[in-house]
Amino acid sequence: MAIKIALLGLGTVGSGVLKIIKNNQKKIRQTSGEEIIIEKALVRNPEKHRNLASEVMLTTNFDSILQDPEIKIVVELIGGLHPAKEYITAAINAGKNVVTANKDLMATFGSELINLAASKKCDLMYDASVAGGIPILRTLATSYSSDIISEIQGIINGTTNYILSQMGEKGLNYEEALKNAQELGFAEADPTNDVTGKDAAYKIVILSKFAFGTKISIDDFTIQGINNLKDFDIKQAQKLGYVIKLIGIAKNINGKLFVEVAPCLLPGNAIMAHIKNELNALQIKSQSLGTAVFTGPGAGSPATANSVMSDVITETKNVVKNTTGQPFSNFSHVMQLTSSEDVKYSYYLSFEAEETLFDLSKLLSNLEIPVREIKQVQSRIVVVTENISRQQLQDLAIQDQYLKASYKILQ
Ligand code: NDP
Ligand code: HSE
Repeated sequence: MAIKIALLGLGTVGSGVLKIIKNNQKKIRQTSGEEIIIEKALVRNPEKHRNLASEVMLTTNFDSILQDPEIKIVVELIGGLHPAKEYITAAINAGKNVVTANKDLMATFGSELINLAASKKCDLMYDASVAGGIPILRTLATSYSSDIISEIQGIINGTTNYILSQMGEKGLNYEEALKNAQELGFAEADPTNDVTGKDAAYKIVILSKFAFGTKISIDDFTIQGINNLKDFDIKQAQKLGYVIKLIGIAKNINGKLFVEVAPCLLPGNAIMAHIKNELNALQIKSQSLGTAVFTGPGAGSPATANSVMSDVITETKNVVKNTTGQPFSNFSHVMQLTSSEDVKYSYYLSFEAEETLFDLSKLLSNLEIPVREIKQVQSRIVVVTENISRQQLQDLAIQDQYLKASYKILQ
């Protein structure tokens, strides 16, 4: 039997899927039990893909996919909220199963689409939407199905990790490094979400559902990207023995959920400090397994296409066995979000040296902020604190206009 699928989008990820299906058909047939055929690929501009016209039928007409009863699986690789949402909704309403790599969409309209898929007995899978090639969502849904997770912390945006690695090690400036990340296919079509932390925030929303069973929105937590990170702070962090990485955190603190995306300092000898370029890593702490780290390519064509194919093959088996319609993760658990008092970390702080070391030390002491290190470097004062609450940090920012940067230090 052959299972016919349609691709929506033939860019970085879509072309990777096409390549895998073409080159690895023998293994796919063995593992899925079926031949998988790409019946059609929807693109915006067929001229751009003329070189692929002999391998796949190109179309600009989504209805021709929707109305083809032979197409059982629609693979959405367009990205963004619209028209991806409308296409997926229409595909499910037409009884088609869906695979997507779209974190923007699943973090924003996931519940609605998941409910629709269940009501129509269709599959909706999205393993590639988080951490590209690392099969993290399927691992959370299956291998952690009896375990209780207390924390997920990770590098979940390949573009920013690539930029920080290239700036820190190769001396590239921010613009050059971003341009390279775009050329290599790591960045989103519009890289704003990558550099402002929004892409990582979408991923942490999806991870929170899989790891804690808890539905949150990107409006529920603080998001800070790397776009305002200064060379000075990267270098000072290095001098103090740390590496700065953009980190997504979802953590159970006394029964409440703390979620954040922000640049953080990692000790130079931490595993995650050594995760470079487009590689991602997720460190998961749980009751039974303890601490586990999953790492691999978090962006790029073949790696992401591999995760997409894993979903396509799982859905193919479900279609053949007539077992479609089960949610990708059925874990559900309501958790409140933490307050600023509950969250305690040690911080790297950077102030304009418009005040004296004496005055700053006095203010920190008044706010009961214990100091591990304080020094003046050029026109800045750099402080490393012991553990303080987020509330103390907020009070400091209100009382000291010269505070220019504050980054958590993770152990
Ligand atoms: P690209 O921008 O490379 O490709 C997008 C494709 O969608 C293009 O082929 C484009 O057509 C097509 N397209 C865009 N808009 C429309 C439209 N309105 N109608 C029809 N076709 C359209 O994106 P990526 O492949 O990089 O990303 C795809 C998805 O995968 C996104 O959701 C992204 O977040 C996700 N993802 C990407 C990763 C990566 O490393 N790149 C990793 C993990 C997830 P045309 O070519 O004609 O312009
Ligand atoms: N733009 C994303 C990143 C792609 O750089 O991580 C993978 O989701």
